[in-house]
Amino acid sequence: MSTKDFLSLADLDSAAVESLLDLAAAVKRQPLEYRRSLDGKILALIFEKHSTRTRVSFEAAMLQLGGASLFLGSETLHLGRGESMADTARVLSRYVDAVVARVFSHADVVELAEYATIPVINGLSDRLHPCQALADLLTLRERFGRLAGLRLAYVGDGNNVCHELLLGGVKLGLRVSVAAPHGYWPEASVVAGAVREAQHAGRPIPEIGADPGVAVEGADAVYTDVWTSMGQEGEAEDRRKAFRDFTVTIAMMERAQSDAVFMHCLPAHRGEEVLAEVIDGPRSVVFDQAENRLHAQKALLLRLLGDVS
Ligand code: CP
Ligand code: NVA
Repeated sequence: MSTKDFLSLADLDSAAVESLLDLAAAVKRQPLEYRRSLDGKILALIFEKHSTRTRVSFEAAMLQLGGASLFLGSETLHLGRGESMADTARVLSRYVDAVVARVFSHADVVELAEYATIPVINGLSDRLHPCQALADLLTLRERFGRLAGLRLAYVGDGNNVCHELLLGGVKLGLRVSVAAPHGYWPEASVVAGAVREAQHAGRPIPEIGADPGVAVEGADAVYTDVWTSMGQEGEAEDRRKAFRDFTVTIAMMERAQSDAVFMHCLPAHRGEEVLAEVIDGPRSVVFDQAENRLHAQKALLLRLLGDVS
């Protein structure tokens, strides 16, 4: 990979993302081929927030590739009592081979990457969630056999997951439509970046609006995420009101293509952003997405740490 770190799909060119997806598919098909590929390598995981999928899939990936991982809750590090990201980065670079960081502020993972001499992987920030989007692209490609031209409707909060789907979707030629209540749209700078790249590459321009019906009309995939992300708990009540009309229902899914899938990064709140009959119904691919975190991240680790082409 041409970059030391993996902070966003926006930093890679489309051939690099396609090639990561190819490697992820190969690892998924024949996991045992790679069981010694990261012999002796150590991955540190710095987590400021809760996690089930990201933590466990990275730890399992390292074990299955022959390496090891160290989980470092930020409260147990000196980071939790004021040591800087820069010094933490310089110290960890002397001990381990790569770091995954899940942080509140995106600037912190950028600082970590700047000062670390080893690869830094963004395991979710308030702004972006590239590991999730990589697994989502793998899931869509498996399901539909292609990515270019697929229509992805994102209904809900213009958050970290939405941002990364915009950036990653544009990269591989998806037609991304976002529907979010006014005041909760994706950040203008992220949208502008995605639009610029789409225009430059002659790919479909993402569309942002406030009408879920318009976004999902004819979509191949309908995606949603929680209305209140980690760190926003104090806004939960206001958000429940603002997002009242943005629940993904069976009626909404019926406006999409007849073979459309329902997607969610998880964890989910049934009865809020999605009804149980949708997420637990036949169109839901949410557990394939969760499984693909493991395979996609193995590909990422092999590229960043293992020199596997
Ligand atoms: N989707 C996701 O990142 O899940 P976790 O918060 O459980 O890691
Ligand atoms: N948007 C959610 C995603 C969790 C995986 C959050 O940041 O809490």
